[in-house]
Amino acid sequence: MADRRPRVWVSQPLFDDTVAQLAAYCDVVATEQVSAHSAAELAAQLADVDGALVTLNDRIGAAEIANAPALKMIANVGVGYNNLDIGALSAAGILASNTPDVLTETTADLGFSLLMAAARRIVESDRWLRDGNWGQWSFTTMLGADLHGSTLGILGMGRIGQAIARRGHHGFGMKVLYHNRSQLPAEQEQAVGARYVGFDELLANVDHLVLVLPYTAQNHHIINAAALAQMKPSATLVNIARGGIVDELALADALAHGRLASAALDVYENEPNVRPELLALCNIVLTPHIGSASLATRRAMVQVAVDNLLAGLGIGPDAGKPANAINAELLGNGTARIAAAGKKIGDKKR
Ligand code: GLV
Repeated sequence: MADRRPRVWVSQPLFDDTVAQLAAYCDVVATEQVSAHSAAELAAQLADVDGALVTLNDRIGAAEIANAPALKMIANVGVGYNNLDIGALSAAGILASNTPDVLTETTADLGFSLLMAAARRIVESDRWLRDGNWGQWSFTTMLGADLHGSTLGILGMGRIGQAIARRGHHGFGMKVLYHNRSQLPAEQEQAVGARYVGFDELLANVDHLVLVLPYTAQNHHIINAAALAQMKPSATLVNIARGGIVDELALADALAHGRLASAALDVYENEPNVRPELLALCNIVLTPHIGSASLATRRAMVQVAVDNLLAGLGIGPDAGKPANAINAELLGNGTARIAAAGKKIGDKKR
């Protein structure tokens, strides 16, 4: 092992006080401005570091790590990691981690807020009022859809899906249906009051559908024109997962032509660019990917990522065992660069 402090790159401005913990053990190169790093910039930054703290802005695959011989660990600040090519990282022996758990409830809160805002036309009402349209109270102004007593659908039943189901079932008396790669054990289903159904049954029977599944090649545009056509025209669609799950043009068309009542998106196919077809609609709520964006949760995410990164670099109490390693099999089969490099880089107690 090289007898030097590890070098670490922090790809975006995060919380300085949390990131500063890295400096006790590592030489840190921090990014001052929010940046959409090009592939070449990423490759250049990763070329001579041992670890990196990155976000969903940073797309890292084989090309970006091709000339990064010292790179051992990439800690993603976020639960979704479709910005990382895990296959390429694993093949190179580079560990990757994410930040699950700490953001579950905050993200479920946002999902539910968006559902309420879209179904009850809150944002549309606000804009309408500010635009001076409220001449007279009327019985039929801004009629929306009820949440209480309605049927909530959840596509993707991981931690966040279950947190949304809990809110719907226990808080709003909703009937909850879900579809997932695998069915939850019965006691888990009972705890969140949800029933497993097939994909088509889910689409056809729900009043509101919330998307919480990870983005993979298999579920690219899983909500396309055909799927939307199976939904009730009175339904609400909420996407807090990843943009590529929804065919945005098909969604805009369904909303524009009354085949779907309302929608809310927090994520987009080509962030930060939002399609003009979506921007032009009044029956959609659009937020800028803020699912986990409470101050407390974003701070917690950075702390988890810092802990993961240090552990992945062989530092501190969890040295060699990052709690949230995505490709943890590298640790078991001895192909992780950190294992190949030896055990602890630093032994200072954290
Ligand atoms: C945000 O989208 C995340 O995956 O944490």
